[in-house]
Amino acid sequence: MLTLESLTKTFFAGEASEVRALEDVELTIGDGDFVTVIGSNGAGKSTLLKAIVGLVRPEAGRILLDGRDITSDPVHRRAGWFGRIAQDPNDSTCAGMTIEENLAMASKRGRVRGLRRAVTPVLRENFRAALKETGLGLEGRLETRMGLLSGGQRQTIALLMATLANPRLLLLDEHLAALDPKTAELVMGLTDRLVRERRLTTLMITHNMADAIRWGSRLVMMHRGRIIFEAAGAAKAALTVEGLVRKFHEAGHRDLADDRLLLS
Ligand SMILES: Nc1ncnc2c1ncn2[C@@H]1O[C@H](COP(=O)(O)OP(=O)(O)OP(=O)(O)O)[C@@H](O)[C@H]1O
Ligand SMILES: [Mg+2]
Repeated sequence: MLTLESLTKTFFAGEASEVRALEDVELTIGDGDFVTVIGSNGAGKSTLLKAIVGLVRPEAGRILLDGRDITSDPVHRRAGWFGRIAQDPNDSTCAGMTIEENLAMASKRGRVRGLRRAVTPVLRENFRAALKETGLGLEGRLETRMGLLSGGQRQTIALLMATLANPRLLLLDEHLAALDPKTAELVMGLTDRLVRERRLTTLMITHNMADAIRWGSRLVMMHRGRIIFEAAGAAKAALTVEGLVRKFHEAGHRDLADDRLLLS
């Protein structure tokens, strides 16, 4: 469904501070796959997601969606295909708008021009039902401004927003990283349920090795812009955190010891 061919992105090319954020990345994601992406700080995980949605323009390689080359398509043309939660919780929702306005905007994404936030009675009922299912008690607070909600509540709304328009691909960039463990567990449970119910093809970045192993059907490990390890099916199910760390060392990388990967 989504194919990345030799994707390469260099920041500050030719300068002393040159960074190879993506180097010859090859990845094929099939319909219904749930891929977890693990990697150290600066491995290129966020850049990978941004390249897929068009926020970062790779200097080499191609991105194919259902066989069509979308490498040069602008962000707005891709918006209807991808549902994304950004790494910073403040980037995925609009703090000044109410819960229902945020949801209304998301439900129309990719279908109408501009930011339409009109909330019809039918939409309102749909939102109320969707919010009720999350179990956060937000169904009575549709007119509350986003900025007044807790981080977990905001990421839950962001998750509903990202999935409302039934995207071809759901892209999650460490959407649990800013949450306390209990809330993270709750939001992850909801993520898994939505992915299953709507059969969403999903790419989820995490720096938590246990989460990368526990969730999804495939695992991809990145380091310094490259994919250094992949596992799927039974091989993924048999992975352990210790085993993953070993894989990392086997790939010739010895600088994992002081990385937050081990702290999570
Ligand atoms: N817009 C940019 N301009 C310059 N350098 C960038 C830019 N975006 C990313 N980089 C650099 O590219 C590399 C990869 O960054 P990226 O954000 O993709 O890493 P990451 O794997 O998401 O890391 P983290 O776990 O910290 O979120 C890093 O060295 C980063 O500093
Ligand atoms: Mg990142």
